[in-house]
Amino acid sequence: MVKMPPEIKDIVAKQKPLPIATADKAGKPNVVFVTMWKILDDETLLLVDNFFNKTRKNLEENPNMAIVVYDSDAKRSYQLKGTVDIENTGDKFTSAKEMADSKKLPGKAAVVFHVKEIFEATYGPNAGKKII
Ligand SMILES: Cc1cc2nc3c(=O)[nH]c(=O)nc-3n(C[C@H](O)[C@H](O)[C@H](O)COP(=O)(O)O)c2cc1C
Repeated sequence: MVKMPPEIKDIVAKQKPLPIATADKAGKPNVVFVTMWKILDDETLLLVDNFFNKTRKNLEENPNMAIVVYDSDAKRSYQLKGTVDIENTGDKFTSAKEMADSKKLPGKAAVVFHVKEIFEATYGPNAGKKII
């Protein structure tokens, strides 16, 4: 896992909704918005599965996930790639369930995203380059 530098973590924190991209085993891509999520620590995000369908199936057969973030004030964008664990018990699930309960949503699982790579995604000469 890698640690999000503070300036990137701050931009990640501002994303509402957050787009998350997954793929099935054959590589067919899928992207959805998520608003029920939070940063757990410098390396980890917690997302709540309330309505995931293809997303959930994809993550069960292929744990790779990517997100892209953009700060329109700073004009900075980053891609974060990593893997997820789907948790149905334990502290992270309890936390996901609390978030879901507060909005009367199902809270079916905690999707724990471990950041493994960060890429520059701002337009310009460094676009696409790996940062960490
Ligand atoms: C603004 C917005 C926020 C959403 N937030 C969540 C969320 O936090 N959790 C969730 O499970 N689904 C959320 N959804 C639903 C998913 O985006 C999506 O509709 C669902 O995962 C079904 O698509 P899929 O079959 O590609 O997984 C949200 C949808 C929108 C439009």
